Amino acid sequence: MSDPYAATAGAYDLLNAPWRSAQIKALERLRPLLRPDAGAILDVGAGSGLNTAWLLGAVPDAQVLALEPSPAMRALILARIAAHPDWYDRVTLRPEDFFGATLPASIGGAILLGVLGHFDAGERAAVFAELANRLPDGGAALIDLQQPERPEPVQAATMASTRVGELEYRLIGEAIPMGDDRLRWRMTYLSLEGERVLTEETTEHVYHHPAPATVTAEAAAVGLTAERLDATTYWLLHRR
Ligand SMILES: C[S@@+](CC[C@H](N)C(=O)[O-])C[C@H]1O[C@@H](n2cnc3c(N)ncnc32)[C@H](O)[C@@H]1O
Repeated sequence: MSDPYAATAGAYDLLNAPWRSAQIKALERLRPLLRPDAGAILDVGAGSGLNTAWLLGAVPDAQVLALEPSPAMRALILARIAAHPDWYDRVTLRPEDFFGATLPASIGGAILLGVLGHFDAGERAAVFAELANRLPDGGAALIDLQQPERPEPVQAATMASTRVGELEYRLIGEAIPMGDDRLRWRMTYLSLEGERVLTEETTEHVYHHPAPATVTAEAAAVGLTAERLDATTYWLLHRR
């Protein structure tokens, strides 16, 4: 079966860099709410492992359960883990997706960055219920709701571009509405020497862009309170 994240994995950390400082600010807001004593902290859709690595560094007593179904992305996170043998006893990387994995009865918190849009409304309700059932009182999960806030056409534009040595790595994104809360995103990953294209890979994802009020109501239905962080795309879901 083809891997929808194979093209994305090629230069993931390079092209994610414009968003990284905002992600870290949001992670810092989650940190005091993490409860490693209550169980492992979930990193759902762990990608290249940026957030798993942050957790292992920022919360020294944390165990981390990272879920990553894409083989290409899993290779990136595994390479990151391989560089830190001191992490081997603290992190488990599982290849199942959220609904395929057996989750522990109790968790110390959860991170779902860049992944919530992969779930439709019914799946989001189930994800929130699974988290609410496992978080301790006072615990929390960090999510993000990707732009645009309402599904609307996104014209093709460079979303990230980084030069490494003599080559440029560029991400071009565009999206068309698919009805209800869905956008079909087309992401093109280029490496270039000047304007000469050396490699070009394209992938498409149907992504859900639920309204903040919808997500707030879905979370409340299972006892989670949604708090938007500083008018950003990041939200904490608190189990009170
Ligand atoms: C945009 S990447 C985000 C990676 C990482 N969380 C980050 O913030 O850098 C989304 C990731 O979610 C994973 N994913 C997609 N559907 C998933 C599911 N149902 N359960 C768990 N992970 C999923 C993809 O394989 C991909 O690596």
